[in-house]
Amino acid sequence: MDFFDYTLASGQSGHFDTSVTATQPFNILPRPPLAGELVPADYFRTLSLDEIFQAGRPLEIDLGCGDGSFLMEMAGKYPERNFLGVERLLGRVRKVCRKITRRELENAKVLRLESRYAVEWLLPDSAVSRLHLLCPDPWPKLRHHRRRIVQLEFLEAIRRVLVPGGEFLFMTDHEEYFQWATQKVAGFGKFELLEWTEDSFFYPKTDFQELWESEGKAMWRLRCRKPLNEA
Ligand SMILES: C[S@@+](CC[C@H](N)C(=O)[O-])C[C@H]1O[C@@H](n2cnc3c(N)ncnc32)[C@H](O)[C@@H]1O
Repeated sequence: MDFFDYTLASGQSGHFDTSVTATQPFNILPRPPLAGELVPADYFRTLSLDEIFQAGRPLEIDLGCGDGSFLMEMAGKYPERNFLGVERLLGRVRKVCRKITRRELENAKVLRLESRYAVEWLLPDSAVSRLHLLCPDPWPKLRHHRRRIVQLEFLEAIRRVLVPGGEFLFMTDHEEYFQWATQKVAGFGKFELLEWTEDSFFYPKTDFQELWESEGKAMWRLRCRKPLNEA
């Protein structure tokens, strides 16, 4: 992780760059959470499930949740499940928090953090029933492909956090990124592919999906799961 928000004992808050920890001996406390926001007590250890949600319901994660429309609809439709959005932009996190509060959703939260860090370091083992990665940045230029979030290490981290039988759902308008992700999953070899068409199950359109479809673009879907017999 490159940064996180902090509040000093004096009340002053700001942005903390982890690359300068050795030279900045401040007494750093996590900032107070917004309503609907998850602010971990400690960003440097794996969370337990009950630190994310008190009620033990199946947990779904929406990585790069944007303004949270998908998260809101899912949380409204499935009160018996918990939904955690992960988003790095503070303005979007604030919007999601406002929506959660307005709709009085007790089964939705948002975490302001880099998605890869959240999956690789914060989420507990075998805890997530579905992990959604919807319209992620495609980084279309060849020299930027290494910035794409779907990489082998990321798939390994997803496998770790999914429950046996848990699913990873990836959707993009970018055909080449879809092929890339499909090849990474095949090369990874530890997931089973599942069918996923637009009407396979209730799945609200995301804001970016609406935008791309209004421009006549097709969406590409990849759905796979951790085998049921795997711990
Ligand atoms: C193209 S938008 C898609 C938003 C939403 N999933 C949708 O389909 O409408 C990508 C979102 O992911 C967020 N994002 C991009 N990279 C991220 C990262 N590494 N960690 C957390 N959020 C990220 C962006 O800020 C943005 O809100």
